[in-house]
Amino acid sequence: MDFSKVMQERRSVKKYDQNVKMTKEKIEKIIEIASLSPSAWNLQQWHFLIVTDEDKKQLLQRCAWNQPKVSEASASIVVLGDLLAYERAGEVAEEWAQKSYVPSDGKKGLIDSIYNFYEDIQTQRDEAIRGASLAAMSLMLTAKDMGYATCPMIGFDPEAIRKEFSIPDRYVPALMITLGKGEETRERASRRSPKEIITYETF
Ligand SMILES: Cc1cc2nc3c(=O)[nH]c(=O)nc-3n(C[C@H](O)[C@H](O)[C@H](O)COP(=O)(O)O)c2cc1C
Repeated sequence: MDFSKVMQERRSVKKYDQNVKMTKEKIEKIIEIASLSPSAWNLQQWHFLIVTDEDKKQLLQRCAWNQPKVSEASASIVVLGDLLAYERAGEVAEEWAQKSYVPSDGKKGLIDSIYNFYEDIQTQRDEAIRGASLAAMSLMLTAKDMGYATCPMIGFDPEAIRKEFSIPDRYVPALMITLGKGEETRERASRRSPKEIITYETF
């Protein structure tokens, strides 16, 4: 699909055809493409908890203000941000040296920079949410391109999800996404104009 058409036609879809079950392969293809998203130092802070089992979707729905789309969609995905993604600094440095992004004697400097940057917990959290959110947007656009609908969601109790789905402490739930065959055409709500949202050069 033409990219601007994907952007124009992507919507937050609340109703899904419950007869359409997406295959694992299709879902994984969407995730694979979404993971081409950029991230600071290519640390790829995202992780996807994919829920397709009917009982587990019901459980997830109860953690998400009981929004019916969570169980009606083919899959509901909790997009997690990894607070400890910076611990992959060594792998990043290794690959970057191999690909000559940095000289081979620059590996230690790169690793030190990454660890220094992620020293404080606020930065770790900001980056986890930022990375996961970029991947989440890519996931939604990729799904649209492949003929599927999504809805991003913040209406959930992150601690309930953590407990019910045994999410390790290193991950923070950034947002949820329902994914499936959409069954809805609602007129889109308007957007603020470029004039309202742009400031050139400085405030
Ligand atoms: C971070 C975020 C959280 C959202 N949370 C919910 C939610 O919990 N439930 C819901 O039905 N829609 C949710 N939405 C969907 C928005 O209402 C929707 O994106 C917005 O109204 C614009 O509509 P459109 O995406 O169809 O253009 C959320 C969207 C975002 C980006």
